[in-house]
Amino acid sequence: MCGIVGYTGSRPAGPLLFDGLQKLEYRGYDSAGIALLTPEGVQTVKNAGQKDVMALEVLAGKISLLPESVTGIGHTRWATHGRPTDANAHPHSDGSGEFAAVHNGIIENYMVLRERLQSEGCVFRSETDSEVIAHLLARHYSGDLAEALRLVLAEIEGSFAIVAMSSRHPGQLVAARQNVPLIVGAGAENEFFIASDIPAVLKETRDVYVLEDGEMAVVAGGKISFSDFAGTPRAKTTMRVTWDAVAAEKAGYEHFMLKEIDEQPRALRDTLYGRVDKSGAINLGIRAEFFSGVSRVVLVACGTAYHAGLIGRELLERWARIPAETAIASEFRYRRPLVDERTLVVAVSQSGETADTLAALREARKSGARVLAVTNVVGSTAAREADEVLFTWAGPEIAVASTKAYTTQLEIMVLLALFLATDRGRLGREDCASILAELKALPAKIEEILARKAELQRIAAYVSKADSAFFIGRGLDWAVALEGALKLKEISYIHAEAYAAGELKHGTLALITADTPVLAVVTQKALYEKTLSNVEEVKAREGRVLAIARPDNKGLAASADEVFWLPEVSDALAPIVTIVPLQIIAYYAAVQRGNHVDKPRNLAKTVTTE
Ligand code: AGP
Repeated sequence: MCGIVGYTGSRPAGPLLFDGLQKLEYRGYDSAGIALLTPEGVQTVKNAGQKDVMALEVLAGKISLLPESVTGIGHTRWATHGRPTDANAHPHSDGSGEFAAVHNGIIENYMVLRERLQSEGCVFRSETDSEVIAHLLARHYSGDLAEALRLVLAEIEGSFAIVAMSSRHPGQLVAARQNVPLIVGAGAENEFFIASDIPAVLKETRDVYVLEDGEMAVVAGGKISFSDFAGTPRAKTTMRVTWDAVAAEKAGYEHFMLKEIDEQPRALRDTLYGRVDKSGAINLGIRAEFFSGVSRVVLVACGTAYHAGLIGRELLERWARIPAETAIASEFRYRRPLVDERTLVVAVSQSGETADTLAALREARKSGARVLAVTNVVGSTAAREADEVLFTWAGPEIAVASTKAYTTQLEIMVLLALFLATDRGRLGREDCASILAELKALPAKIEEILARKAELQRIAAYVSKADSAFFIGRGLDWAVALEGALKLKEISYIHAEAYAAGELKHGTLALITADTPVLAVVTQKALYEKTLSNVEEVKAREGRVLAIARPDNKGLAASADEVFWLPEVSDALAPIVTIVPLQIIAYYAAVQRGNHVDKPRNLAKTVTTE
């Protein structure tokens, strides 16, 4: 995944583009570049990151080398085709240097196009799929840049957001979107800002056009026009962004991840707000017919969102007694899933742009299923393509490691399961009311945990020295263990695996040594004794057990080496609270190891490739 920006107006474009790229760094950060339109042609600076210096930091030192210009494009990259090198960084130009383009996505037929262009004399300077766009633009150009882009679009296959410009058209940018997000912000001074995501333009404008798949935009001379790829004009209106740009900033924290961990009480309150009416009934804002006759639920998602889906499945079956399954989105679409019009497919995605989840969503729609998106991003593709949407109101999540998006996804899972359970008469109003009362009280309990970071820092100091760690739990605790292990591995780079605690003795115990931390999640009352036996199994092999447990599991104190006691919480809602100490342990372990916490190596915040 990559982040792209464009600017045309009357102010110096270089600093504005750089500012936008900084906001998009979460989308990819292995290389970056900016190109400006000047009377002498396109002038470009671009580079990969260097050892311990991020690509944008390197780029910052080069911006001053560029001449002043009021039009330009920029890019921050997460490598797919071609290594992260200076040459592979965008923007890419054609041989004459008159055309330049930035691209996010994958051009699937680029090899064929590249070979053809090479046979026609084009010299390629990068290993990327994207470079073909610049060469094709030059080939197709006959006086109209938008028309040239249209002809390029007719040749390329795959997914893309593209912004291009040419020194033959000062002040003009052309852009297109197919399966990859792109927005255009309308600025105050007859200026336009193009970007992959809204935070990149918020400092300058709140009025934003969201491009649909198959749409192009042309901006020039303070005017904007839209069309489809065939050139048929489209009318579009701006949407007003109401959330605050400051919310996307670090607000004094060293890392976004810690800020976002601390924001969880607020995010949970916001997500619940307005969804339970005065009579205690759940109001999801979704028309009643949407759920009627649903006989099965399939939750599709990736990574952390998949872990949230695992908990959703359990609660749907437990409370609503509806058969439910959770599928990894990248697997779902290839297994010819059995879904029909009585299946509710719930696509869970923080970004709403994850390619695998979108592909699963589309597959489900094709099969006639009703599709509900659970997403954090208004205007995202998932939100627009699903039949209905439930937003998590977590606010922008910038750190690659998902935290507040996960806990708010869990809250939505609880609300959805309770709604269906009461709607179908599977759960009485009183039981529902008491669960909702507890849900409302959870933010305060999380605040208690957040005030005890020092305890968790001590545990993290020990974990940070390990080469390998295991997470164990049963039932809902196992689902939380999976998420705890993912958090630890993605930012600390410590090998971490989660096991259903009962599975340890079927192989994994062979790996337990005195140097292996085993993080035991012990919150489920009915499973407590069983998990305690698994803790004993680890202790008998000299493993070190660090437990996260409910206060009534006091017997654990004798078996585990260290216990972090949680506030009192019921079995069903325990995951929303239990994950918080595991997030904090992962965070401090990564800090202790000196890692880039917010931008871990090899990863990107939003994965728009399959
Ligand atoms: C979690 O920390 C990761 N960033 C990752 O697993 C993420 O949850 C996954 O890529 C799905 O993203 P989405 O929620 O935006 O679809």
